[in-house]
Amino acid sequence: MRLYINIDHVATVRQARRTNEPDPVRAAVLAELGGADGITIHLREDRRHINDRDVRLLAETVRTGINFELAAADPVVDIAVALAPMQATLVPEKREEVTTEGGLNLASASVRDAVGASVRRLEAAGTRTSLFIDPERQALDHSAALGANAIELHTGEYANATGDAAKAAELTRLADAAAHGHALGLAIHAGHGLTYENVAPVAALPHVEELNIGHSVISRAVLVGLERAVREMKEIVVAAPGRVPQPGVWVPPIGF
Ligand code: PXP
Repeated sequence: MRLYINIDHVATVRQARRTNEPDPVRAAVLAELGGADGITIHLREDRRHINDRDVRLLAETVRTGINFELAAADPVVDIAVALAPMQATLVPEKREEVTTEGGLNLASASVRDAVGASVRRLEAAGTRTSLFIDPERQALDHSAALGANAIELHTGEYANATGDAAKAAELTRLADAAAHGHALGLAIHAGHGLTYENVAPVAALPHVEELNIGHSVISRAVLVGLERAVREMKEIVVAAPGRVPQPGVWVPPIGF
């Protein structure tokens, strides 16, 4: 299980004052010292948190690997291709949303065209590709057909479900999607809305090999420090019951 820490939220605090602190570049160092297996950043079209300077410096300083979240749009794909990060995760992007609200709408032919073209460009640059999708069979089938290496299952519905029955139903959806994606040859990632309280059942799902977590860890970091907050999350995800080593799981290049 790999734990990637999303540090956009550090940049969000900085942008609240449009100053130079806290610096997501320093946050990435601390997250790595706390045991993060990778650093996730989303360069949004409106640059509301992470900006081009952050991307440039993080590309030079991150020692684990960068998971670069981006829309399937040429201006940001150009930047990703030039940097060739370890991994790129294509996500839908709407200006009016507070955070990414749902998975890619791969039922739409125009979205598939844009995503497919982006996957091919990123792949040619040597970057591993992942698609952020809702836990639905059709989206998984499209993802495999588009040639992505991995998918990231949107765990927001699970995180927002209230009551044991609703949570269990969402977990079953995620488990079914993970099994279907695995059968299609896709690596399975998950993320969005995961917290110290709700992460263990997701971390225990068969085939899930990577989690992307931001808000909950950065929130805790305000109180206990980032290194400790990451270490505590890492302890939970690697200790999740039922986790067994999975042969054939992709191993990131060390010190990328
Ligand atoms: N994965 C994706 C694709 C995201 O867009 C986000 C939010 O930035 C996350 C994971 C992390 O979500 P959260 O901040 O709720 O942990």
